[in-house]
Amino acid sequence: MNNKKVWYVTGASKGLGLALVRLLLEQGYRVAATSRDLTALTQSVGAGRGAGTGAGDSFLPLETDLTSDSSIADSLKKTHDTFGRIDVIVNNAGYGIGGTLEELSAEEVAGNFDINVFATIRVIQKAMPYLRTQRSGHILNISSIAGFAGATGWAVYAAAKASVIALSEVLAQDVASLGIKVTAIAPGAFRTQFLSADSLAFAKNPIDDYTDVRASHQRYLAMDGKQIGDPEKAAAVFIRLAENPTPPTLLFLGSDAYNRAIAKCADLRDQIETWKPVSFSSQISEPQLS
Ligand SMILES: NC(=O)c1ccc[n+]([C@@H]2O[C@H](COP(=O)([O-])OP(=O)(O)OC[C@H]3O[C@@H](n4cnc5c(N)ncnc54)[C@H](OP(=O)(O)O)[C@@H]3O)[C@@H](O)[C@H]2O)c1
Repeated sequence: MNNKKVWYVTGASKGLGLALVRLLLEQGYRVAATSRDLTALTQSVGAGRGAGTGAGDSFLPLETDLTSDSSIADSLKKTHDTFGRIDVIVNNAGYGIGGTLEELSAEEVAGNFDINVFATIRVIQKAMPYLRTQRSGHILNISSIAGFAGATGWAVYAAAKASVIALSEVLAQDVASLGIKVTAIAPGAFRTQFLSADSLAFAKNPIDDYTDVRASHQRYLAMDGKQIGDPEKAAAVFIRLAENPTPPTLLFLGSDAYNRAIAKCADLRDQIETWKPVSFSSQISEPQLS
């Protein structure tokens, strides 16, 4: 009998999700994986398992629409019906969107939040009844370093990924007494399809005045294929996190993410201290400056 954890991973036909699914199957875990495209998912996972191997009983590919509550609920029910439990949920599906707030339409903004934030919330809402009944489980939400230290030209992506960190931090407190763990992961640059035309979106109506923003976008696009992060090593970290009895609530993944996070903390501390007298000046009682 297979006593290893049952995983449910969203957005698994490529990139970090695919690397994770392949490694999990290699290590004998049972895995349900979602994609918009079942053929792409089964082919890419199958390709990683060697020609003719087939996916076997431990792999459940699920064509799932992450914008639909019922599609998500159905995929989680199939996972539970197939494997008898669900131990680790990975909210991985997501994409970047470039453009200033002025350039992006309401539809472009909503579309990005729908996958990066609302799909994450939908999956958690539909998965919680299983995890609560078990009194165990681990939710890994894939954010980004952009959600903690955002970069020029990516305001909406930064806002969406900041939401993922914020909701994860509070969810971790809300479900701790139920034996459920939550970790937000904030990766730096990983060599996936993330920066390719297939995945990345840009404002359909750019405005010429934003020259710094266009330059920032070009710098990111030039990084495609040269990112320092290895998706297979990221996958190995995800598995180690899920096996750790005391995982962090927020993990920065990659030396680039670590360095940006540390620089942001230092800047934030300087700013807080510089403006401390103003912060304290709004109190009814005499400010306690130290
Ligand atoms: N790579 C990086 O540098 C980096 C850095 C920080 C954070 N991240 C985050 O890591 C996660 C995985 O990205 P990745 O690097 O693996 O990129 P990727 O290679 O482009 O893969 C993204 C996955 O997300 C799913 N996805 C993308 N757009 C979607 C949409 N509109 N609706 C539903 N699913 C969609 C896709 O699922 P299907 O096509 O299978 O449906 C795909 O498998 C994302 O949340 C991303 O924001 C990546």
